[in-house]
Amino acid sequence: GGVTTIDPGYKNTGSCESAITFLDGEKGILRYRGYSIEELAEKADFLEVAYLLIFGELPTKEQLEKFDKDIKEESHVDEDMKKILDGFPKSAHPMGVLSSLTSALIAFNPGSVDVDSEEAMYNAIVKIMGKFPVLAAWTMRKRKSLPLDYGDNSLGYVENLCKMMFSRPNKAYEANSIVNDALDKLLILHADHEQNCSTSTVRIVGSSHAGLFASLSAGISALWGPLHGGANQAVIEMLEAIKADGGDTAKYIAKAKDKEDPFRLMGFGHRVYKNFDPRAKIIKKSAEEVLGDLGIEDPVLDIAKGLASVALEDEYFVKRKLYPNVDFYSGIIYRALGIPTEMFTVMFALGRLPGWIAQWREMRLRKEPIGRPRQIYVGENYREFVDLEKR
Ligand code: CMC
Repeated sequence: GGVTTIDPGYKNTGSCESAITFLDGEKGILRYRGYSIEELAEKADFLEVAYLLIFGELPTKEQLEKFDKDIKEESHVDEDMKKILDGFPKSAHPMGVLSSLTSALIAFNPGSVDVDSEEAMYNAIVKIMGKFPVLAAWTMRKRKSLPLDYGDNSLGYVENLCKMMFSRPNKAYEANSIVNDALDKLLILHADHEQNCSTSTVRIVGSSHAGLFASLSAGISALWGPLHGGANQAVIEMLEAIKADGGDTAKYIAKAKDKEDPFRLMGFGHRVYKNFDPRAKIIKKSAEEVLGDLGIEDPVLDIAKGLASVALEDEYFVKRKLYPNVDFYSGIIYRALGIPTEMFTVMFALGRLPGWIAQWREMRLRKEPIGRPRQIYVGENYREFVDLEKR
């Protein structure tokens, strides 16, 4: 028989059991494998968190060294991938390029698709952990007309990512610990968020036994949208528009409340967090520190703070429990680090990569069935075919 009830947006539908991320939206709690996000952001580095998410435990020194070494051995991509990158117009949105390149990787690594053993799964995981930052950094360099950079395997994962993004031709690369630390923290805060839109996409695509890279490419596409990861780009664009319009925050608060106006306050609201987003708390503090450390005064941060303070007292937002989310302040940090606005969602994808991998791996190890929701049919009943001349 068919189903009799539906749940649009799956607001109240569980899709799986998971041992990866715990989230309490009422209390504002987020934990990876039992460890609090606050402590991880403070004490761990991104690669440790990636290992924790994917394999379930914090790595020992030896385990971390091996993971790092295995990833580094995969931190190159086939030279022919450059031709694919070259085929895109410079104006192409980096998220479209990244999702395409991630799909294209399958052609160059066909062995990554069939992952029936744990070993094959591990190999696919270290491959994508190694190659993904290269693709993401190249996407940015292409847009900036800079020669591609392969990084330096003597550097740490995040340091190397910075080198691949920021190095300049004929100039020795100088690591900047403020930039590295800020990025490390941001990547950790984005690393997993249980069954969100892109993660559910990764699991559902993977449930047909499409390979890891194909599942990730679909996840990147899902993340792109402004209601999900694309919100970080949308936030800065919104703040800049408000600035250009004379900085009148009240006008935009009014627009957001107007039900006839499709405008939403970007970076506000969350499907699950109804008191505060714990990631936003950490990021707000970090944004202030980074801007202070780098000596940057950004009027956009003042507009953001103004907007947040008005919205937090306004009845419309209070009643609907709309608080600044992770994306509200992250863009301000990315901007301070010199990352172009249209790259922000790529930065989110870099952070979310281990979460997607962990969720995909869990889904495969648990031998979950193919994802296949039901529907309630509301179309026409049987109709007799009408010939073309008679229509
Ligand atoms: N500005 C103005 N009104 C809003 C906003 C907003 N940002 N967000 C929700 N509302 C209103 C909405 O109009 C609705 O009002 P009413 O009950 O009168 O019809 C009510 O609040 C509930 O909203 P909803 O759309 O039913 O809630 P949802 O759980 O379906 O959507 C959301 C959650 C995050 C998509 C939504 O809050 C939104 O569009 N926010 C702006 C985009 C954004 O910042 N997205 C990033 C999310 S966090 C990063 C990530 O994990 O992707």
